[in-house]
Amino acid sequence: MVSTQGPFFFPMAHIFLFVFTASTIFHLQQRLAKIQLSWELQTPVLMSTPLSVTGGVWTINAIGRLGNQMGEYATLYALAKMNGRPAFIPPQMHSTLAPIFRITLPVLHSTTASKIPWQNYHLNDWMEEQYRHIPGKYVRLTGYPCSWTFYHHLRHEILQEFTLHDHVREEAQTFLRGLRVNGTWPGTFVGVHVRRGDYVHVMPRVWKGVVADRRYLEQAMDWFRARYSSPIFVVTSNGMAWCRENIDTSRGDVVFAGDGIEGSPGKDFALLTQCNHTIITIGTFGIWAAYLAGGETIYLANYTLPDSPFLKIFKPEAAFLPEWVGIPADLSPLLKH
Ligand SMILES: *[C@@H]1O[C@H](CO)[C@@H](O)[C@H](O)[C@H]1NC(C)=O
Ligand SMILES: *[C@@H]1O[C@H](CO)[C@@H](O)[C@H](O)[C@H]1NC(C)=O
Ligand SMILES: *[C@@H]1O[C@H](CO)[C@@H](O)[C@H](O)[C@H]1NC(C)=O
Repeated sequence: MVSTQGPFFFPMAHIFLFVFTASTIFHLQQRLAKIQLSWELQTPVLMSTPLSVTGGVWTINAIGRLGNQMGEYATLYALAKMNGRPAFIPPQMHSTLAPIFRITLPVLHSTTASKIPWQNYHLNDWMEEQYRHIPGKYVRLTGYPCSWTFYHHLRHEILQEFTLHDHVREEAQTFLRGLRVNGTWPGTFVGVHVRRGDYVHVMPRVWKGVVADRRYLEQAMDWFRARYSSPIFVVTSNGMAWCRENIDTSRGDVVFAGDGIEGSPGKDFALLTQCNHTIITIGTFGIWAAYLAGGETIYLANYTLPDSPFLKIFKPEAAFLPEWVGIPADLSPLLKH
């Protein structure tokens, strides 16, 4: 099922990059440092009977880009806590998240990780009862979990973990402070994330689905225009050219803000979280931005045909918070063929 072309799935080759990641910046907890030290002093035979002094080591795969890795981080955080095990993140997850957020989980050095007799444990993208009792001290969670059903009971802690660094937040705030609608400071900021890029082809070809069209965005923006006086729409996208052509700017309440650079998504992400409300299309990046912004959220609903294989790995009700408002996608382009 792990496909390099699926919308939430990215080349597995990335996973090997961490081997080369500079290790010096990572802080290991004392306990882990001890494990590492003693393992290095022991023979391979002893390595297979890991030290009993710890409560174990739990980790999770670090695959995908920012939104996926946030989901993996939060899921590890919640499940390790639920099972009473200490959680450690892989170095490449630290490299993705730490420049943006004040995350606190310690890093598992790859040298140490390579000596641990891991049991892989696959997760679906929604919470299941058996995840409350995952056996094993050395568990590597796998999959692409990004569902509030794992961690929403810890919402406060998750928001704490994903607090922006001051300089990241300040850069976004400075940008927002400079915005005007018809010469006046907007009362309400609505972050708009328009995911395009590979999804534009992958959704119809692989998943019998669509991406957001101009009508959806217009409906979603009108929803806010009807409820707030002079809102401003702060658009970020990895397909900004399409946005400029398809989003109506005649009211003077739309600003194309993001740089859409997927390799350094922090700026776009910070802008979205500093807005009051959110309009999302598809993808975990938007879901996380909306979760952190914490305001009203409009999402694209039912964007695949009912027989899409996507629905076997994705449960809408586990992805979108119940209070978020869905606008159904126009699937007619899929039915033409
Ligand atoms: C801004 O001013 C123009 C021209 O007066 C008007 O048509 C438009 O509705 C105004 N936009 C907003 C968001 O108030
Ligand atoms: C809306 O967002 C702006 C920019 O972050 C902030 O200054 C303002 O206080 C927010 N308004 C509310 C009601 O939270
Ligand atoms: C999506 O489809 C389901 C099943 O047909 C339906 O119950 C739900 O209301 C739809 N969601 C929206 C937002 O239209």
